[in-house]
Amino acid sequence: MIRLSALDRFNWEEVAALKVAEGQEAFIPPNVYSIAQSRFEPSELYGVYDDERPVGFLMICVWAKIHWITRIMIAADQQGKGYGARAIDETIKMLKRRADCREIRASIHHKNVRARHLFESAGFTFMGDSDPIELFFHLVVKR
Ligand SMILES: CC(C)(COP(=O)(O)OP(=O)(O)OC[C@H]1O[C@@H](n2cnc3c(N)ncnc32)[C@H](O)[C@@H]1OP(=O)(O)O)[C@@H](O)C(=O)NCCC(=O)NCCS
Repeated sequence: MIRLSALDRFNWEEVAALKVAEGQEAFIPPNVYSIAQSRFEPSELYGVYDDERPVGFLMICVWAKIHWITRIMIAADQQGKGYGARAIDETIKMLKRRADCREIRASIHHKNVRARHLFESAGFTFMGDSDPIELFFHLVVKR
């Protein structure tokens, strides 16, 4: 069963060690970078777990009441098994339970076809681009 588990002093290293597939490095920095970034730019960090096995990483930032999925990754050897889709579903469920969550957003590299497909399958819609590289997607949370 897929679950999101907040990073803590016991599990952060096993999640930091997860790596994306070759060719995907342009889409997401190493997890250890995101973990360091969160020290200075407040964010929530989660491991994506299949029961006790770490398979991915998730980072959420809340800015001006908008909940951003700033990072999501599934380890190279675990991709294509449905973990990404289930992790997004769990993330949406978690964020919808929050009274202050009206909208969930993500920005995706324009060449990241797989991530785009993942977010669109979960119900996100294209908002536009801020530049030619980053495309913005959102999901409005109905109350
Ligand atoms: C994007 C990512 C999280 C998807 O995770 P995943 O576990 O492989 O995704 P899933 O197995 O749940 O598949 C999701 C969709 O991608 C499709 N897919 C799976 N393998 C694929 C492949 N090799 N090529 C293209 N599409 C593929 C699946 O068919 C599925 O589509 P569906 O909903 O129509 O069935 C993963 O590829 C990843 O970690 N990428 C690098 C990091 C990244 O780009 N993050 C996003 C920006 S921060």
